Amino acid sequence: METATIVLFGATGDLAKRKIYPALYNLFVEQKLPQAFHIIGLGRRSLSDEAFQDSVAQSVARFSRREANDPELLNSFLSAFRYNVLDVGRKEDYAKLLQRIEQREQELAVQPNRMFYLSVAPEFFAAIAANIKESGLGSAAGWKRLLIEKPFGHNLQSARELNRQLSEAFSEDEIFRIDHYLGKPMVQKLGVLQQNNPVLDALWTSRYIANVQITANETVGVEERAAYYDRAGAVRDMFQNHMLQLLMMLAIHLPKNGTSEEVRLKKKRVMEALVPMSKHEVSGQVIRGQYAAGTVLGSSVPGYTSEPGIDALSVNDTFIAAKLQIDAPFWRGVPFYIRTGKRMKEKSTRIVVEFKAPLEQRAAAYEDNPAPNLLVFEMSPDEGITLQLNTRDPQREGEFKPIRLDFHSSREDLPEAYENLLHDAWLGNPTFFAHWDEVELSWQWVEPILQAFEENLVPLRLYPAGTYGPAESDALLAQDGYHWWFDA
Ligand code: BG6
Repeated sequence: METATIVLFGATGDLAKRKIYPALYNLFVEQKLPQAFHIIGLGRRSLSDEAFQDSVAQSVARFSRREANDPELLNSFLSAFRYNVLDVGRKEDYAKLLQRIEQREQELAVQPNRMFYLSVAPEFFAAIAANIKESGLGSAAGWKRLLIEKPFGHNLQSARELNRQLSEAFSEDEIFRIDHYLGKPMVQKLGVLQQNNPVLDALWTSRYIANVQITANETVGVEERAAYYDRAGAVRDMFQNHMLQLLMMLAIHLPKNGTSEEVRLKKKRVMEALVPMSKHEVSGQVIRGQYAAGTVLGSSVPGYTSEPGIDALSVNDTFIAAKLQIDAPFWRGVPFYIRTGKRMKEKSTRIVVEFKAPLEQRAAAYEDNPAPNLLVFEMSPDEGITLQLNTRDPQREGEFKPIRLDFHSSREDLPEAYENLLHDAWLGNPTFFAHWDEVELSWQWVEPILQAFEENLVPLRLYPAGTYGPAESDALLAQDGYHWWFDA
């Protein structure tokens, strides 16, 4: 494995503490990082290397999947961390950073490969990329990569502008856009499962599939992110990125051993085939919701507009449900229902593939109605795959009874999304990062929704916290003769 320097912007931030350091530690323990792995953390406030290492140790102890109970191992991990003060707008700081990196590269005999990880607010992305270029930080003899977190833009226009700015300093194959849903192990398996199981492969068409339901329900509310979330809403925060990525991953038909180019090309094809809507059609296909006060997991919680930092008159969406159609041979006529919301009854991220009832000519053979076959992919809280089949229940006069073939993995055995992503970025494997084409097409598709919400063309439906969202979300499926599965 090639050696490289990780240059982490936002090293004292929340994401670094909760996700990045624990992920690096797990990779280190599993020997998935090169021997001379090292990292330079950057932040605005001054901090000694020791104090920085202490804070990394705390975050590992608190959030890591692997226990940090071997002091020698932990110390060897921590010794890779150095800290530098940097004000993202000050050119001198980049010059000093370059010196420090070159010095470390020499000390450790590390190749001049550099991975710039921008774990900072998006308004700094463009300035940082430009300064990396101007300062010469990005022009070493080795490779350079840019890792960036979402949100990638606020709408289509700003996403395009950001991409233009970034591409002045980095080429597309050097930009690794993180969508952490693509790092989730079950999401990574989606395309492969269908492709490697003839049983699924044979059924993966509109001839047998009635509908697909993609759900990402959360119990948390706006948390401490009022300023960001009230501008973003569920459409920008979850739908434009995570939810559409889940749709792409489920809908692609991959050739055997597809390369990363093929995966991304197929995903692009899915997005291109997504039937567009005009802003006037949005209200017929999209439900816009906001949580009101209620009870979540046994605790009373305030409504969205009573949350600290949220305007009492805010009409921001905390829930969205939508019906989508893919105009491509395999999927024509199969509705995809997508929903995501905050303050829902339970935390669950899953995809349900509902198969059609028995084909018409065979229907006569069924004197009563068995439940449809369901294939369920669960990403959260546990990871698993379930296939629901029907059998006769001998105890109940031979009535049909659904049974479930279940496979579940324990969470401790599974890498976290950020482990997978950091490892792939290190190897230079872009398969599970969002390509610009996908990002652009996703913004393009959601643009009419943003406009319709902005112009209030879609009514805002309140739902009590601790439920499955507004009743209109159920009606969206009911009008097609379906219902959301597993809402208890
Ligand atoms: C983030 C969103 O991208 O994903 C958050 O900004 C959301 O609002 C989170 O809570 C959900 O991620 P996960 O992995 O917990 O489903």
